[in-house]
Amino acid sequence: MIDLKDICMDYGMGEAKTRVLDHIELHIKQGEITAIMGPSGSGKTTLLNILGAMDVPTEGTYQFKDCEVSQYGSKQLNEFRKNNIAFVFQKFELIQGYTVRENVELPMRAKNINRKERKEKADEILEQLGIGHLKRKFPGHISGGEQQRCAIARAMASDNDLILADEPTGSLDQATGQEIMKLLKEMNQKGKTVLVVTHDEHIANMTDRIIRLEDGRIVSDERV
Ligand SMILES: Nc1ncnc2c1ncn2[C@@H]1O[C@H](COP(=O)(O)OP(=O)(O)OP(=O)(O)O)[C@@H](O)[C@H]1O
Ligand SMILES: [Mg+2]
Repeated sequence: MIDLKDICMDYGMGEAKTRVLDHIELHIKQGEITAIMGPSGSGKTTLLNILGAMDVPTEGTYQFKDCEVSQYGSKQLNEFRKNNIAFVFQKFELIQGYTVRENVELPMRAKNINRKERKEKADEILEQLGIGHLKRKFPGHISGGEQQRCAIARAMASDNDLILADEPTGSLDQATGQEIMKLLKEMNQKGKTVLVVTHDEHIANMTDRIIRLEDGRIVSDERV
């Protein structure tokens, strides 16, 4: 599904130039759930952002199914993201002025799904995740675990194939974090491909594969 070849990412120019990803080769099969681990600053978020077409690498090629993503311009990258990627972040990144349900509706709005269908689908997903009763609340008025459930609901609402989660359990206590990880696993069991950045070995051990980064390089890649 995903093929990264010889990916390098540099930030800065001239003397200040630093290489953040250094010749990354990575192949991910459809339906895999993979953890990405590594020290702070090793390039995990940068790698996820490239996979999510939020960033363009300095060198190398990115192929996703039949798409040559590394050849895309900004308009094509936006379209690619809308149709293929679902992000879940450590700090949830919900829109504060929108209710829980409106947040979940967002990816469906981007796909021009009509209002009635959007609401029905959002309600169905929120019920499924056990937060149906919170649909009219604002993100600031619910707990961290509930906010992350809402973010997972939003990812589910996109129905996109690749779920990229950047420390999705990092702001939560261990028990709540494990619950969120279980939801990601359930999505994986329903066929979604999941990449999850984590510092937590327990969370990583709930996946099929652990990739470790150090100084922008993959230093190990093992099946769990
Ligand atoms: N926009 C940017 N401009 C310049 N340098 C950047 C930028 N984004 C990241 N970096 C640098 O790239 C390196 C890798 O950052 P990255 O965010 O990918 O690390 P990480 O592995 O996700 O770390 P953490 O565990 O702390 O989230 C760091 O040294 C960081 O300072
Ligand atoms: Mg990071």
